[in-house]
Amino acid sequence: ISSGSEEKEKTLAMIKPDGLLGNYTERIKEVIVDYGFSILREITAQLDQDSASSFYAEHSSRSFFPSLIKYMTRCLRQKIVAFVCVFQAFRQSFDSGPVLVMVLEKEYAIADWRTLIGPTDACKAKITHPNRLFTYKLLFLKPLLFIAFIRAMCGQDSEKNCVHGSDSLLSAQREISFFFEDVSSAEDPMKGELVKL
Ligand code: TYD
Ligand code: MG
Repeated sequence: ISSGSEEKEKTLAMIKPDGLLGNYTERIKEVIVDYGFSILREITAQLDQDSASSFYAEHSSRSFFPSLIKYMTRCLRQKIVAFVCVFQAFRQSFDSGPVLVMVLEKEYAIADWRTLIGPTDACKAKITHPNRLFTYKLLFLKPLLFIAFIRAMCGQDSEKNCVHGSDSLLSAQREISFFFEDVSSAEDPMKGELVKL
């Protein structure tokens, strides 16, 4: 016999800098609610070099890691240097900034959120996105495609893919406790090393 909320699963969802800067937040939240997720917690955070590296620690040996960290952060130290400041501020403002972190709850939240965001490479997500069927003149296939991937809506490629989702129960637990002290409490505390905006 199932007993309501005890059966529900939690996952960590994040709208990455390109999603926030591109003003996709409200549209993504609409999708979240439409698909039956509850948003238990929500914070806006500016990741720094250390917090982003630690969040993505499992990828630290990959070739894309330095670029990923750059995209996920904004290096304030560089901005202190006057000469670099203007150039950096200009350049970084296009591809980096704060993130919106959410704890989502639902039955099968982890797998369902991953399905909803789509493949890591946003280009692949776009190929199967219903809106793209206009481009490919395959509109008759639309009824067969039930999922409009979020990454197709706002992502660009395999790095700038707009959203994050935990990929397993273990990573969901790790990632939720990375940002939130205690999700079961009524409070909304955040760990000290990150800046709340
Ligand atoms: P990964 O965990 O493989 O993907 P996902 O976000 O779908 O769980 O990779 C983490 C992030 O690393 C990914 O969202 C963007 C970045 N990344 C790249 O920049 N290039 C790549 O080739 C891959 C695989 C990931
Ligand atoms: Mg992952």
